[in-house]
Amino acid sequence: MAIERVLTSEALERLRRPIGRARGLPREAFTSEEVYAAEMSRIFGRGWIAAGAATDELAQPGKVIPLVLAGRPIVLTSNEQGRIQAFHNVCRHRGVQVVTKACSGQKVLRCPYHSWAYDLDGRLRSTPHVGGPGKHSHPDIKKAEIGLVPIRCESWANLVFVNFDEAGPDLLTYLAPLRERWKAYDFTRLRLGGTATFELKANWKLAVENFSEAYHLPWVHAGLNSYSPMEDHDCFFIPGFCQGQLSRNYAAAPVDGRTMPRFAGMTAEQETLAEYPVVFPNLMLGVHADHFFALTAFPVAPDRTYERFDVFVIGGEAMTPAYAANRAATVERWRAINVEDIDVVERMQVGRTSPAMDGGRFAPGQDDCVHAFDLQWVDAILGGGGRSVRAADQNRGPSLGGVTPRVRPRSLA
Ligand code: FES
Ligand SMILES: [Fe+2]
Repeated sequence: MAIERVLTSEALERLRRPIGRARGLPREAFTSEEVYAAEMSRIFGRGWIAAGAATDELAQPGKVIPLVLAGRPIVLTSNEQGRIQAFHNVCRHRGVQVVTKACSGQKVLRCPYHSWAYDLDGRLRSTPHVGGPGKHSHPDIKKAEIGLVPIRCESWANLVFVNFDEAGPDLLTYLAPLRERWKAYDFTRLRLGGTATFELKANWKLAVENFSEAYHLPWVHAGLNSYSPMEDHDCFFIPGFCQGQLSRNYAAAPVDGRTMPRFAGMTAEQETLAEYPVVFPNLMLGVHADHFFALTAFPVAPDRTYERFDVFVIGGEAMTPAYAANRAATVERWRAINVEDIDVVERMQVGRTSPAMDGGRFAPGQDDCVHAFDLQWVDAILGGGGRSVRAADQNRGPSLGGVTPRVRPRSLA
């Protein structure tokens, strides 16, 4: 089995060492087609995955959005009541991908091949000439049994999630540790303020690893580092769930002297706090007093990733024309920062084609979240579901090979 060839007992032992002596994931974890296939089934094919769509985009009944997740074609629909659902985007007749373009105002999803039509709840509604010319039904073709195959679909923070696995908790239960940490923020008020997309010639995990440390700020993001310097960032852990960066010196950037509306009830500390966790596997979040973002890294191939970046603003007022420039400036600021990362992330991928790449080392006190993510990945690819198994250990600090990590767990409560 390919995974065992890549994740040898020696590779696992090296990764699981205290951070100062640990090695990173073997380079094949970023280059191998077999590892990629295993990721699709064992990581992206189970558990809650951000779909890459905002609920605001599906607010209008009749909206239909086709996507590819875990290598599988799916379609999101908004039915007549505005209920968002997900289905496998595969016709039950002879398997044609039914929808290829996002569209609005739809009443049915009609397969282009033989015109079988499904309603927005996935029910098969018409099968023209199925029993021969002029015979639109047949006793053996039971429409009630051959609707589009549904996929679990729920939403949080204006983000649509799907889960290909019938087992496991609902989305809000799954996200409970993070929701508890962020309970001061009323995410029901979030509105989609703008979107940017990126294409990376790199494995999706390198995008996540890059997001997981602020060590590179002085060199890759000189502008960002001038107002949000590396030394203002810390790593935080939500034991058993996830890890991320935080900065205590966030300042909302004014446009024409005006900043955007904030979440209600922010404390002075929350006004200047920014937190950037990674929700395994591929969802990178940023919360601030005046906006929220989601950066999702979608694997396309072992060395190709598509990223979608959404900025959400708070409440209806922030969506008015008066704040259009603020919204655009926020999207543009983050877009430019993400573009700055592309070169180094792609060069990490190039480095992984070299036999000299032995997994690399972690900078103790800088790369704690990268190490934690790699350990989560190992847990997931070996079938454990991607639990943050090391988080509790990391919070103890001194167990990390004598190095005191820059970890100061904190609560907003
Ligand atoms: S494959 Fe869809 S109608 Fe025939
Ligand atoms: Fe960066």
